[in-house]
Amino acid sequence: MKNKSEKRGVMKKIAVITGADSGLGREYTRLIVKESDVDEIWALAKTPARLQRLVQDFGDRIVPVEIDLTQLDALADFHRRLSLEKPEIRWLINNAGIGKFGPFEKLEALEAAWIVDLNCRAVVEMTWNCLPYMLAGSRIVNTASQAAFQPLPYFNVYAASKAFIDRFSLALAVELKPRGIAVTSVCPCWMRTPFITKAQTSAKPDVTRLFPITDPSPVAYLALADSKKGRTRSVYGTLTRLSILGAKLLPVGIVMAVWLIQQGLSGIPAFPGRKSQNHADGEQASRLPALTLDDKAAD
Ligand SMILES: NC(=O)c1ccc[n+]([C@@H]2O[C@H](COP(=O)([O-])OP(=O)(O)OC[C@H]3O[C@@H](n4cnc5c(N)ncnc54)[C@H](OP(=O)(O)O)[C@@H]3O)[C@@H](O)[C@H]2O)c1
Repeated sequence: MKNKSEKRGVMKKIAVITGADSGLGREYTRLIVKESDVDEIWALAKTPARLQRLVQDFGDRIVPVEIDLTQLDALADFHRRLSLEKPEIRWLINNAGIGKFGPFEKLEALEAAWIVDLNCRAVVEMTWNCLPYMLAGSRIVNTASQAAFQPLPYFNVYAASKAFIDRFSLALAVELKPRGIAVTSVCPCWMRTPFITKAQTSAKPDVTRLFPITDPSPVAYLALADSKKGRTRSVYGTLTRLSILGAKLLPVGIVMAVWLIQQGLSGIPAFPGRKSQNHADGEQASRLPALTLDDKAAD
């Protein structure tokens, strides 16, 4: 059956959302369905059952696209599909992402590379693939993170990958401004989504203090509103803004020290008089190097 645009003899207008079937991506999808200038929402993710659920919940404008974005073949297939269907892409939301808590050395073989493949390479490839189908007024929304603003020991590759997305987005926004295409880097704090459980690599995760934490719904709402206003960054919540400001102003060694203390990974209690919550038996504290003032020299 032809969609409205095809009946009018013009290209269909679509939104492309990666990681659309869960957490923040599902919220983006829920909101984009309400946009009147989009004929189809191409929802990209790996899990067929959850993609079908999107169709049930949000209607038949959802086009489920089962894809593993870490696979170059799959990205090439997506490129071919675009060149066959030639849609007008109104929204590209690069949102799929994974992270892993724990010491870099202890990550499973290839796990660190998958984080880079999904969080960085797929964002670049998807953007490159989609740009030829974007016109003035089209928008790119890239999910980075508050983690983009500081190196995070024991969440290392993830934080570095998000710094990549943020820098990539800001520079791309300048390059695409003459074409009238807006690019927004979305930098949420912790959100209540399956991401956090998936990031745990052991029964005793290294990262447990998730403060501040928020629901993904207002983050998605603000991100789309900021994109429409042409803002290059979208940051939800006063505490998140403050922590980003702190990360920009303070020496990086201090910022990392605060993170380690907050997570109970430094041997110094985050709250005087209390034992480390997550490693109360001291096992973790002895496994990790104690933080000294010399570590500020990292700056
Ligand atoms: N939750 C947080 O605390 C937090 C904070 C800041 C930023 N973020 C960022 O927010 C974004 C959304 O994460 P979320 O919190 O909503 O987590 P989530 O619920 O786990 O969603 C992740 C999405 O990415 C998809 N995905 C994962 N691997 C994929 C692959 N190889 N190919 C295609 N799709 C893949 C997942 O789909 P399948 O499961 O079907 O593969 C899922 O739809 C991520 O970029 C994350 O880094 C999260």
